[in-house]
Amino acid sequence: MTRIDVFTLFPDAFAWFQAQRHVRNAVAGGLELGYVSYRDHTPLNAGQVDDTPFGGGAGMVLRVDVVEAALHAHYGVDPVGLPAQRRVIALTPGGRILDEPLVQELAGEPELTLLCGRYEGFDERIIEHFCSDSVSIGRYVLAGGELAAMVLCDAVVRKMPGALGHEESAVEESFSSALEGAPEYPHYTRPAEHRGWRVPDVLLSGHHARIREWRREQSRLMGERSSPRRVDSGPLP
Ligand code: ADE
Repeated sequence: MTRIDVFTLFPDAFAWFQAQRHVRNAVAGGLELGYVSYRDHTPLNAGQVDDTPFGGGAGMVLRVDVVEAALHAHYGVDPVGLPAQRRVIALTPGGRILDEPLVQELAGEPELTLLCGRYEGFDERIIEHFCSDSVSIGRYVLAGGELAAMVLCDAVVRKMPGALGHEESAVEESFSSALEGAPEYPHYTRPAEHRGWRVPDVLLSGHHARIREWRREQSRLMGERSSPRRVDSGPLP
């Protein structure tokens, strides 16, 4: 991954994200993070970017001509051709659920384009003609795609070499193939005892093979424990 472009009405919303240590590490390691404001490129008067939905109903819809102008200004090509060249991802509540396999897949892409919606979302023609994917961070509706874009970027950026400081941190973590897709094992640190709550003896034993075995077993058990609560990500109501 060398570049992520985020298209948004609120580029300033990403200031906090951009300041995080792992993101700064990734940027120092060569990742470019760019933000494009739809409003800076709108062909409409008074910075208009959205409009009322045809057929009536509440809220406002991000206009296809506005998103087209922003993509065209940034990439210098008709955005209809973009999805054949790169992943262009609309953040939408009804999209493909972001999970570890999708994060891995996206982390393997050379570049990503993320489109944040606002209000009632996107004119459907944006998704149909300019996007390769639509991705959801869960079956609930946020006020906009910015938080979802940050979640996606965070998960992808963590995979970059050097982002976490310790190379092994992202290898053996929850849902990774090193743990066969199971959640991570529990962690403990000092004090070894607090209010009578003791850290499992095996972790204090210094016996690395036994510790490894215990962690694998705990990870497997946590996977079993959490699966009945896992809900199927079906379509939005
Ligand atoms: N935009 C609004 N809600 C969203 C969600 N749950 N996931 C991705 N993008 C969104």
